[in-house]
Amino acid sequence: ELTKGVNGLEKVLLREVRGSSAEVYLYGGQVTSWKNDHGEELLFVSSKAIFKPPKAIRGGIPICFPQFANRGSLEPHGFARNRFWSIDKDPPPFPAATSSRAFVDLILKPCEEDLKIWPHSFEFRLRVALSPCGDLMLTSRIRNTNTDGKPFSFTFAYHTYFSVSDISEVRVEGLETLDYLENKERFTEQGDAITFESEVDKIYLSTPTKIAILDHEKKRTFVLRKDGLPDAVVWNPWDKKAKAMADFGDEEYKHMLCVEAAAVEKPITLKPGEEWRGRQELSAVPSSYCSGQ
Ligand code: BG6
Repeated sequence: ELTKGVNGLEKVLLREVRGSSAEVYLYGGQVTSWKNDHGEELLFVSSKAIFKPPKAIRGGIPICFPQFANRGSLEPHGFARNRFWSIDKDPPPFPAATSSRAFVDLILKPCEEDLKIWPHSFEFRLRVALSPCGDLMLTSRIRNTNTDGKPFSFTFAYHTYFSVSDISEVRVEGLETLDYLENKERFTEQGDAITFESEVDKIYLSTPTKIAILDHEKKRTFVLRKDGLPDAVVWNPWDKKAKAMADFGDEEYKHMLCVEAAAVEKPITLKPGEEWRGRQELSAVPSSYCSGQ
C-alpha cells in the first residue's frame, strides 16, 4: 500500500494479519516504523527528524551505502539514504523465499550525479518483509553492473535506531570480549554485557550473527540476526552530541540506541556481474522468553 507520509513523501505500509506493521519511505529506502501486534512502536524516529531532501531521516533504519561514516571520499554514510528509491515491480527471485506476503521490493540505481561522485554502475535491491509473527527482515542485494570491467568496493550498514525506554537500563549481549574500533583505533571489549553511561561510537569486529538488546524497563528484548555483515556498530550520541544535532531532541538520546549490522572493517569488493547479499532480521520478544532472564 503506497501512501503519502510527512511532507508528501511517499511511503509503503506493510501489515501482517496478526497486527504487526512497518512503513518504508521511498526517500532513502528507509524503514521509519516497525510495530508489534499490540501496535507498539519498536524503532526510534526523532521528533525533530527532517523529512526533506537532502537531509536523511533521523531514525528508523537508514541504509549506509556505498560508504559507512567518513571512511572514504563521499558524504558521511554515503548517498543511498538520501536518494529516492523506486518500487521494484519485477524483482529476480530471492534465494530465501519470504514466507510473508507483507513485503516490498525497492531498487536504487545511480543517477548521473551519483556516477560523478562514485563512478560505478550498480543495482541495489532491498526487500523489506514482515514475518507472520512480526519479525522485520531486510535483505539487500547489490550487483556490480559496470560495463568497463572494473570492480568496486563499498562499506555498508543498516543504521538501526531501536526505541528503548531508558538507555541507562539497557544491556547489549553478544559483543563482550570482542575487538572494536573507536576513532579508528583498535581495542578489546572487557567483561560482561555492554551498558551505557556516556557517549558510545564503536565498531565491533567479526561479531556473532546474533546480538540481543535487553530493555529492562520495558521487559523487552530485541534480537538482531545478521548474515553477510561481519561487524556491528553501536552508537548513542549522549547529551553533548545530541545538543549539537539540529534534527535530534536534546533528551532523546535516553530513548534510543543504534545497533547496526554492518560491513565496515573489510570493504566488500564486487567484480562486474557479481552480487553481494546482506541480511538483517529483527525480532522483539518479552524478556521473560529469553534465557538468563
Ligand atoms: C553512527 C556513526 O553510525 O552514525 C557515528 O558511528 C555517527 O559516528 C552516527 O555520528 C550518526 O551519523 P549521521 O550522519 O546520521 O549524523
